[in-house]
Amino acid sequence: MMEGLHNWNSRLVSCCILCLFLAIQATYAQGQEGFLSIQCCADLNVTEPYTNISWTTDANWYPDHRNCQDITPSDTEYDKARVFGSHLGSKWCYNLTTSKDQDYLIRGTFLSGSLPGTLFNVLIGVTPVGLVNSSDDTEVEGVFKATNDYTDFCLSKEKGDPYISKLELRPSNPDYLKRETSSILKLIDRVDVGNTGSEIRYPHDPYDRIWKPEPKPDQTDDLRTLSHTNITVSNGSMILPPIQVLQTARTHPERLEFLRNDLDTGYYEYDLYLYFLEHNDSVQAGQRVFDIYVNDEKRQELDILADGSRYSVVVLNFTAHRLLNLTMIKTSNGYQFGPICSAYEILQVHPWVQGTVQAEVDVVMDVRDELLKANQNNKVLRSWSGDPCLPRPWHGLSCNSSSGFSVITQLNMSNNIFTDTIPAFPSSSTLTSVNGLCGSQGSSGSAQGIVIGTIAGGSVLVMVAVGIYFLFFYKKKMAKGKFSAKGLPMAKNAVYSIPSMDEIVLKSISIRAFTLENIETATQQYKTLIGEGGFGSVYRGTLTDGQDVAVKVRSATSTQGTREFDNELNLLSTIQHENLVPLLGYCCENDQQILVYPYMSNGSLQDRLYGEAAKRKTLDWPTRLSIALGAARGLTYLHTFSGRSVIHRDVKSSNILLDHSMCAKVADFGFSKYAPQEGDSGASLEVRGTAGYLDPEYYSTQHLSAKSDVFSFGVVLLELISGREPLNIHRPRNEWSLVEWAKPYIRNSRIDEIVDPGIKGGYHAEAMWRIVEVALVCIEPFSAYRPCMSDIVRELEDALIIENNASEYMKSIDSFGGSNRFSIERPIVIPPTPTPTEPSPIISQPAPPQPR
Ligand SMILES: *[C@@H]1O[C@H](CO)[C@@H](O)[C@H](O)[C@H]1NC(C)=O
Ligand SMILES: *[C@@H]1O[C@H](CO)[C@@H](O)[C@H](O)[C@H]1NC(C)=O
Ligand SMILES: *[C@@H]1O[C@H](CO)[C@@H](O)[C@H](O)[C@H]1NC(C)=O
Ligand SMILES: *[C@@H]1O[C@H](CO)[C@@H](O)[C@H](O)[C@H]1NC(C)=O
Ligand SMILES: *[C@@H]1O[C@H](CO)[C@@H](O)[C@H](O)[C@H]1NC(C)=O
Ligand SMILES: *[C@@H]1O[C@H](CO)[C@@H](O)[C@H](O)[C@H]1NC(C)=O
Ligand SMILES: *[C@@H]1O[C@H](CO)[C@@H](O)[C@H](O)[C@H]1NC(C)=O
Ligand SMILES: *[C@@H]1O[C@H](CO)[C@@H](O)[C@H](O)[C@H]1NC(C)=O
Ligand SMILES: *[C@@H]1O[C@H](CO)[C@@H](O)[C@H](O)[C@H]1NC(C)=O
Ligand SMILES: *[C@@H]1O[C@H](CO)[C@@H](O)[C@H](O)[C@H]1NC(C)=O
Ligand SMILES: *[C@@H]1O[C@H](CO)[C@@H](O)[C@H](O)[C@H]1NC(C)=O
Repeated sequence: MMEGLHNWNSRLVSCCILCLFLAIQATYAQGQEGFLSIQCCADLNVTEPYTNISWTTDANWYPDHRNCQDITPSDTEYDKARVFGSHLGSKWCYNLTTSKDQDYLIRGTFLSGSLPGTLFNVLIGVTPVGLVNSSDDTEVEGVFKATNDYTDFCLSKEKGDPYISKLELRPSNPDYLKRETSSILKLIDRVDVGNTGSEIRYPHDPYDRIWKPEPKPDQTDDLRTLSHTNITVSNGSMILPPIQVLQTARTHPERLEFLRNDLDTGYYEYDLYLYFLEHNDSVQAGQRVFDIYVNDEKRQELDILADGSRYSVVVLNFTAHRLLNLTMIKTSNGYQFGPICSAYEILQVHPWVQGTVQAEVDVVMDVRDELLKANQNNKVLRSWSGDPCLPRPWHGLSCNSSSGFSVITQLNMSNNIFTDTIPAFPSSSTLTSVNGLCGSQGSSGSAQGIVIGTIAGGSVLVMVAVGIYFLFFYKKKMAKGKFSAKGLPMAKNAVYSIPSMDEIVLKSISIRAFTLENIETATQQYKTLIGEGGFGSVYRGTLTDGQDVAVKVRSATSTQGTREFDNELNLLSTIQHENLVPLLGYCCENDQQILVYPYMSNGSLQDRLYGEAAKRKTLDWPTRLSIALGAARGLTYLHTFSGRSVIHRDVKSSNILLDHSMCAKVADFGFSKYAPQEGDSGASLEVRGTAGYLDPEYYSTQHLSAKSDVFSFGVVLLELISGREPLNIHRPRNEWSLVEWAKPYIRNSRIDEIVDPGIKGGYHAEAMWRIVEVALVCIEPFSAYRPCMSDIVRELEDALIIENNASEYMKSIDSFGGSNRFSIERPIVIPPTPTPTEPSPIISQPAPPQPR
């Protein structure tokens, strides 16, 4: 490396310097605490005899031995390499446990043997630190500060298959990373000046830095070796090479010159660490003073002994393109001795590259782990290692880094990336148990995708909608001619969501108590009335933090007690579900009972179905389905709420609100018993509810149960199917009640005649039938015949799967003149039922439009 470049007048000096009274003060950790030493592809864990380093295999990361190669010819003590040969991935990582904020040295050894022309990048975290070219055996070493409880060491493919033989992780001396901006220091060289023997490392160096002897020391150099090893280093916090390294040095009466022409091209920044120990015990301060030049620039004048210690470290930074000329020259002839140097290190500075936003990484890792549980051998999933976005996104993932940090925008699991094994969602998956349909609009357009979306408000929600597999099964079943959606692998196409860290944090925030003044400010003195509901009037407002809210003010005539209201508040503040409108806060000042909810920008389902909004844009069938499913999940949660089943009592389309992403949220639960009724006497036995939705059994027996909500939900389903109001006395007499009107058509399988004309041609018959059947059992006059909400959720999920996915297949059938997707024959079974009548619409007039 430096051959022929040493240029000085040389004089061999006898090198015994006696009587140095030096003692090492720096305390070194003994043993291999924090060491991780991996021999890739090894069969056994071994302990190296000389260094005593314990090597483990890499089976915890890559158990497979098929990609192991023996390195031939081999002149190294370890002669295997793991070769990452797969057309799928572009990056392979070792995920190493680290302690956050601790400094580490990491070293990869790449033995190429006879591997053909290969080129790959080595990354620490996501920061690239160097290319490995298979024309040479190489080591890549860096010092970095861990930013997490694990750090990835990755190989990123450029040409051919990346490979690795050894990987070592060591806690590092923290004094290396003293830069202002976080960086990785990549080792270029670490030279034990004056050493003509073998390299020095652990156990001599507790940090296991490897100090290399000078490759070809000039015979004419002044080599110095100390015979005594007691060295006092007055400042223990300084970087200190092992004593064996300091024991050798080179000196010269005039100048020492270290020249290199093998640094990287391109103007990299470097840190240069220079280590000096005064070897001549008789030398006093002021006798050996020399200047240090880097690339012809004088950087420092050094008198090793000036601060009273025999040992000095000098750290310099420089920027260089290929060449380094490090020269030490005696400052003037006035000084007795020339320069002396014991060791130096050249470290290339790589600014630390920020990985993908941690909350997103955590979520996508969970998704990956869940998928992997049931798809152990899926090659695509196996190729998902390291950072999901950098330097290149995982196969099937899309990322956006335009704002300076990377976020995941989409996860696309279309079948063409799963050429070998198509993955299935494990049925035990925690993903399947998570509720929520928000954002499903995005996925309904592209059924074959996992869509990861960021929901506004800072909370990140991951939406997972996997379509591929369903299609696969569906085809098989259709081919066998016994299609039954019941047997479909559920969970394959449902929309999943897992809340991110952010969301969990949001959820733990409890409801706020507002002052009357807050409320008045927010609503600008109740300026905008947006509804008149059972509870009272509803006003739009904006909180000081900018959040839009709906403020419900209870009418002054109400008689319900404040204490009961308080108890209810306490309970309701713990009811939180994605498909329920959350209670943000309340105000109880001056006997006022005021509730504050987030404002739902897309209004109510009622508006969307036949209000003003419907005139602008018809709600399509898949969206109707996902709204129904969302609302059903919200109600299921209420009915099964721990400790007490909460019955809504007023399920209706105007109480199903839609947020900005058309996610359905059930409103007005919990307080419905506070709703004043006409002629309210405060009696709690009074039947409550809204005409058209009212459970006839509850109406006649006054016995309330969760099944009353089920009845009302059935009416909502009929509204979704038909686009008609539950009660409309402006229609012909036999059409006043939606339920009574629809039933005969359903019984006679004449669905087409009740389906909303606005969605004709836009639905899949099978999915429609399922909803119709669910609606029909929900409106069973006898509550015992009605299903419970969780059964309904399952049915709706099935229907959504069919709608989202089967359509792809049906289209292909259609295209070669096959069946008409809207006319699948399907007999329906109606349980024999007596027929008590709906409460007559004449008894109770339609309620005024309900607010949110
Ligand atoms: C080196 O240090 C040890 C203990 O610090 C001391 O006992 C020993 O005498 C020292 N050796 C010399 C040559 O000073
Ligand atoms: C090697 O390590 C083992 C345990 O890790 C220890 O017991 C032994 O003393 C060490 N040997 C040497 C020479 O350091
Ligand atoms: C090797 O060591 C690792 C880590 O200490 C351990 O997980 C693994 O089981 C060991 N393997 C063998 C073959 O002993
Ligand atoms: C790898 O090294 C060889 C030999 O030094 C050189 O010929 C080749 O161009 C290098 N490959 C790349 C891609 O830099
Ligand atoms: C020891 O090192 C610290 C930090 O490098 C420095 O601030 C301090 O002055 C040094 N003390 C001595 C005695 O050199
Ligand atoms: C050490 O320094 C003394 C004077 O301080 C000098 O006489 C002696 O020659 C030096 N020894 C070597 C080996 O340079
Ligand atoms: C190295 O730098 C020194 C000091 O600037 C200079 O005298 C010398 O000529 C340089 N050597 C080479 C080979 O450029
Ligand atoms: C040395 O480091 C400082 C601070 O990081 C920086 O401002 C300066 O540009 C660097 N000098 C060189 C020659 O790179
Ligand atoms: C690395 O391991 C940690 C726990 O040891 C885990 O939390 C993290 O997700 C893993 N990262 C990758 C990239 O596998
Ligand atoms: C990436 O995000 C920015 C906003 O952060 C947006 O403007 C840009 O269009 C996005 N790019 C892509 C390709 O989605
Ligand atoms: C998913 O990826 C496939 C190819 O990998 C592509 O054809 C399809 O358009 C992508 N879908 C989406 C929604 O990005």
